[in-house]
Order: sequence, then structure tokens, then C-alpha cells
Amino acid sequence: MDLEEALRTTGAVREFTDEPVPHEVVYRLLDAGRFAPNGGNRQAWRVVWVRDPARKQALRDIYLRGWYPYLAMASAGLTPWAPLTDRDSEGRAVEHAGEFAAAAAAGAGGFAEHLDAVPVLLVVLADLRRLAAVDRDLDRYTLVGGASVYPFVWSVLLAARSEGLGGVITTMAVRHEDEVRRLVGVPGEYAVAAVVALGHPVHQAKRLSRQPVEEFATVDHFDGAPLLPASSGG
Ligand SMILES: Cc1cc2nc3c(=O)[nH]c(=O)nc-3n(C[C@H](O)[C@H](O)[C@H](O)COP(=O)(O)O)c2cc1C
Repeated sequence: MDLEEALRTTGAVREFTDEPVPHEVVYRLLDAGRFAPNGGNRQAWRVVWVRDPARKQALRDIYLRGWYPYLAMASAGLTPWAPLTDRDSEGRAVEHAGEFAAAAAAGAGGFAEHLDAVPVLLVVLADLRRLAAVDRDLDRYTLVGGASVYPFVWSVLLAARSEGLGGVITTMAVRHEDEVRRLVGVPGEYAVAAVVALGHPVHQAKRLSRQPVEEFATVDHFDGAPLLPASSGG
């Protein structure tokens, strides 16, 4: 597949067929992912492929503990867990999480409720001793460290696409990181960065909805002219 097309059409896949993903394919995806850019080439990622059904179920349960509060916040019009947010509104929204859990229990459930049935679940970790987190000492939420791990995850997902697979990066389980740590025996020097779900997609790639460039890029100044498709000659 053409790289440009892959970049424009590789969306989140959350519905998978029962077809298993062979061991050697999982290996190949990680083998492609390892060429991702990362701070100082420290390659701080670690991966635990969770295959044991009991552990997959436990991972699902950890995920769900974040999922219903997420739904409650999103349905209240909030960006769940945004570093800058109205914590009171967030708290009020989360009080309704149980209602979302009850609604899910009354129905067939979706990706979250069936996470354990996903063909491949990869827990991606970051070695905190090897992250070049240049914003570590700033008086704000830190962001840069993750950038040494998430491009790796994205490369794995792109590699999956080129193999005819699909998947999604998930972070919901990170809400209860200690439980994930205990579940798969992760030492304290590692952060849980994501749980990546992979498998054979049920549906074809869909059209992705993203804001146009001129909505998020400007020239010379934050409040500068929007970056348009062609130069206006100035
Ligand atoms: C950092 C990050 C965390 C995410 N966490 C979750 C998650 O916990 N669960 C989930 O279902 N999708 C998760 N996603 C997938 C996003 O929901 C998805 O990329 C976004 O909605 C765009 O979807 P689309 O590519 O299908 O248009 C995450 C994506 C990123 C990049």
C-alpha cells in the first residue's frame, strides 16, 4: 500500500474476526515498529504480549474501570482527564459512570466489554530511566517522554495495516497502572504506556474525520495567518 494512502486511511479498528494472528506476524510487527524515532535512540519501549486468557480478562476488567468514567465525562461534553479542565465538572460527570456500566451490562457490550476476545493484546511499557523527558522539570503536565514510545506504537499499527490487520492504541487501562503492573509483573521503573489491540478487521478502512490543516497550523505566530493549501504570495 502507498504510504500516503496508509497515513490517510489507517484508523482505529475495534472489531475483529476470530481469525488468530500468527506468532510470526506479531513478531514482524514489532520488528517493523522498532525503527520508530525516539529520544536519543534509547528505545525505552518494552512489550508484553498478553496471551493467557485469565490475564486478558483481568486486563479487560482494569480497562472497564476507566472506560465508564470516560464515557460519563465524554457525554458531559468534557475531554476526559484533560490536564487543563474543570475538575468539579469532571467529578460530577464521573458520578454517573455507574449508569454507563449498567447500560453496557444490559446490552451486548462493545470493544471494551469484549477486550479479552481481541486476538492480540500488547501491553506497551516505557522504561522511565531511558526516556529523554526534556519537559520533566517544567511547571506543567509532562508530555515529551511519551513521544519516545508512541511513535513505536504507531509504527506497529502501520505495519499491521500493511499485513491486512487492524488495531487501536488504547490507554484506558493506564488509569489503574498499578494493577496492570501487578498483572504482568512490571517493575516500578516502567510506566504503562498503552495496551495495543490487534487483529483482522471486520470492516474495511473507513473515511477518517480530521480537522483541515488551516484549523491547526499558522505561520510565524500562534495567532498568525492560517497555513493555506497554496501560498497567497506574501
Ligand atoms: C494516546 C491515545 C490513546 C487512546 N486511547 C484509546 C482507548 O483507551 N480506547 C480506545 O478505544 N481508543 C483509544 N484511542 C484511539 C482513538 O480513540 C482514535 O485514535 C481516535 O478516536 C480517532 O479514531 P479514528 O482513527 O477511527 O478516526 C487512543 C488513541 C491515542 C492516540
